[in-house]
Amino acid sequence: MLLLSIETSCDETAAAVVQGGRTILSSVISSQIAIHAAYGGVVPEIASRKHLESIAPVVSQALHDAGIGIDALEGVAVTRGPGLSGALLVGFSAAKAIAVARNIPFVGVHHIEGHLFAPFLEQPVAFPFLALVVSGGHTHLYHVEGFGRYTTLGRTIDDAAGEAYDKSAKIMGMPYPGGALIDRMAQSGDPAAIRFPRPLLHDGSLNFSFSGLKTAVLQHVMKNPVTIPGQAANDLCASFQEAVCHVLAAKTEAAIRQTGTSRLVVAGGVACNSGLRNRMTTLCTQLGVELSIPHPSLCGDNAAMLAVPGDYYLSHGFVSPQTLDVTATWNMDTIKESMT
Ligand code: KG4
Ligand code: ZN
Repeated sequence: MLLLSIETSCDETAAAVVQGGRTILSSVISSQIAIHAAYGGVVPEIASRKHLESIAPVVSQALHDAGIGIDALEGVAVTRGPGLSGALLVGFSAAKAIAVARNIPFVGVHHIEGHLFAPFLEQPVAFPFLALVVSGGHTHLYHVEGFGRYTTLGRTIDDAAGEAYDKSAKIMGMPYPGGALIDRMAQSGDPAAIRFPRPLLHDGSLNFSFSGLKTAVLQHVMKNPVTIPGQAANDLCASFQEAVCHVLAAKTEAAIRQTGTSRLVVAGGVACNSGLRNRMTTLCTQLGVELSIPHPSLCGDNAAMLAVPGDYYLSHGFVSPQTLDVTATWNMDTIKESMT
């Protein structure tokens, strides 16, 4: 199918045109990061207003870049949740309006479903597979048996990995969101300089905890103020990154052994991280597991990724009703009941 997909769950207004859940004809992302950076994080009310301003131009640009008119579309896939309600409503209402005006089906998709199928835009992965989704709001391990068939194996019990990056960056005096900057500075630092805690490393579960790590960074910075740029700051970033990646890799390894999987997908904004990409590559080579990580341009929030599950659902008759609403929270494990 020729799909328009729309994403407005947080601070990116994005639209894409994708053919057959596979070929990206266009992908437009309008980021609000510069606006929210002044406040040190995403301000929900501002996010909704900016989405309202951007949604029509972003959709028009996506159609223009794809070289098609709106009448060529065969369906619309849109993020239904989880995310900021006001922000979600903008994209969801636009998707419903286009569907009704063009008399085409639309489907509301889970934001994380988009992330975990992003690698399919480059190369489809055979089911079943294990997925580690690491973003600003999620740090989850899923067993994926097919579209809509997800089982949570482990999850963060407090902060997500991206949240830990951004909060630690803020403590170090970096602008929001600091994840990518920590990664860049870490590449010139010593990962063994500071021994940060590895939360829940040996608790026997597949869960994560990152809030204590952020507190450890705060305590370290209070005792040892750092200036940026500088070697001490690089060492701090490298040591922090080492702690995060160590835990992510150890829990993923435990999940691989527990499930006996031969395929791993790593997705979400933090999958851009160079340390994590290297560590996962090494781990999968050692264990003989096939690794799929999207190109960095497909790791962060984008609309194209939603077209992968969107195309599957629409071409299998799973059409959302016009009465459907957005949902700020949505457990992936419950999708089975409605979409399979
Ligand atoms: O998936 P995403 O774009 O949005 C959410 O769904 O949350 O992820 C954004 C998160 C932010 O926390 C950002 O700091 C983090 O991904 N991030 C990184 C890197 N690039 C983005 N974290 C660590 N290293 C990076 N290179
Ligand atoms: Zn995301």
